[in-house]
Amino acid sequence: MQTILKYGSGLLRKKAIKYAKEELNSTLHSFIQEMYNTLEEYEGIGLAAPQVGVSKRLFVIEYSGIKAVYINPEILEKSSDIVEYEEGCLSVPGIYESVKRPESIKIQYLDEKFIQHTEVLNEVHARIFQHEFDHLEGLLFVDKLSSLRKNLLKKKLKKIEKNEIEK
Ligand code: NI
Repeated sequence: MQTILKYGSGLLRKKAIKYAKEELNSTLHSFIQEMYNTLEEYEGIGLAAPQVGVSKRLFVIEYSGIKAVYINPEILEKSSDIVEYEEGCLSVPGIYESVKRPESIKIQYLDEKFIQHTEVLNEVHARIFQHEFDHLEGLLFVDKLSSLRKNLLKKKLKKIEKNEIEK
């Protein structure tokens, strides 16, 4: 079983590395399967490789009929419409906060066969994608909060951080 790294872990702050063509093999496919299993086990809607200790550019989304893996994803365009939506994260347990992000995005990625796709995502799908994409950049949703909100969450975050380091 994969362990989910929590806030305070250094690996969550690293910029993840792209997959190379040679990495399309059975090891990658079993890793993707494990990611789906972990996501289902924790009843999440998105999970990025760095969250399970693998600093690579891959994440999975399972939400409302969508089940997909995104390898080497890119955000090509962002809408000027910004929307607020409540987010949580398996790496930041117990914290749910409203975050502002573009409403729709144009993306490019490779699927599990390394076939390239270009798509436009809207609403919740766009939201989850952007949250997971941030994980590949070493960012967490709590980074996007106002300093006032961050201050209010300081104690909770310290608690998560302390548990992570003591493990
Ligand atoms: Ni997350």
